[in-house]
Amino acid sequence: MSADAPLSPPPSRLPNVGTTIFTVMSALAAEKNAVNLGQGFPDFDCDPKIVDAVTRAMRGGLNQYPPMAGVPSLRQAIAAKIGRLYGRAYDADSEITVTAGATQALLTAILCAVHPGDEVIVLEPCYDSYLPAIELAGGKPVPVMLDAPHFRIPFDRLAAAITPRTRMILINTPHNPTGTIWREDDMRQLAALLAGTDILLLSDEVYEHMVYDGQAHQSVARHPELARRSFVVSSFGKTYHVTGWKVGYVAAPAALMAEFRKVHQFNVFTVNTPVQHGLADYMADPAPYLELPAFYQAKRDYFRAGLADTRFKLLPSDGTYFQCVDYSAISDMSEADFAMWLTREIGVAAIPVSAFYSQPRESGVVRFCFAKREETLALALERLRKL
Ligand SMILES: Cc1ncc(COP(=O)(O)O)c(C=O)c1O
Repeated sequence: MSADAPLSPPPSRLPNVGTTIFTVMSALAAEKNAVNLGQGFPDFDCDPKIVDAVTRAMRGGLNQYPPMAGVPSLRQAIAAKIGRLYGRAYDADSEITVTAGATQALLTAILCAVHPGDEVIVLEPCYDSYLPAIELAGGKPVPVMLDAPHFRIPFDRLAAAITPRTRMILINTPHNPTGTIWREDDMRQLAALLAGTDILLLSDEVYEHMVYDGQAHQSVARHPELARRSFVVSSFGKTYHVTGWKVGYVAAPAALMAEFRKVHQFNVFTVNTPVQHGLADYMADPAPYLELPAFYQAKRDYFRAGLADTRFKLLPSDGTYFQCVDYSAISDMSEADFAMWLTREIGVAAIPVSAFYSQPRESGVVRFCFAKREETLALALERLRKL
């Protein structure tokens, strides 16, 4: 072996992580020139006003380190929004922290609370960062399965999964990938289940402003028994069509937040200054997030009406910008094979829901993202009608 040969790496901290289906599908979509309804982000631009607000901050010299927990005006705007929408008063100084996207908020919340050997209950299918984050903390993920086609919360299974080692339950509403939402009664049942325990909740609410048909987003912040034990996570990327900016936040009671910040300060320390100032300015007008449900509902309705002319069976989409479909009338391929076939042969990329489970599981369901321009959706529908 030569003297400068690189060392072989240590045993992997994440031995089960490889190339994800998202990377595979995006590469295939690009190669086949397919309409990419796989990727979960918009193909349209953000409001120029938010770019102006960030530009003003940069030109105004706001380019050095901000406070560790985030720019005060942004934390105040976040606390005011949560208070107005969900009725809980978080203290901007001690209970709100700005993060590098929701992904960092989730990892940091898990790292600060989960000790080696602790159990963390995860409802599957789930967003792909949850399980690796728990494993990095030395925690033990305890999966509880949601079943197609309705993916409702199985409270009996959830209750059965709780043990004396349960440190935390991770929930996500509106839910990626299924588009389901927690209802008020679900939150009440969860509160009843957790009352009298010291189990923490990590509530991923990045799609909080994408709830349809006049329904209300059930933030855990609305429910005192839940809020007192919760880290609530959201993302400006989803709300303001700026997923590439990677700015989010977490709200939690002060004692939990103090632990969160101990990890946050040595994880990223803080988040870029001008974007925080720009977001604080832009948040002064609540219209962009208050109008978001109508904006996305129009896209959802357009896409669903088009899909009604295909052989797909539509699953409910009460929230998020995802629409799941059952393809069992079209094919008996596995979800991954069907998604690849659809991309290659029909020219529309989708994501298999099986990619969101830790164990092999087939429901005959794939996920489309409708956060796209109408012409993108129209082209996809034209192709899907040929099936
Ligand atoms: C459920 C869920 N949580 C978290 C994230 C990550 O958000 P961010 O880009 O702000 O890290 C996503 C992004 O797709 C998501 O779907």
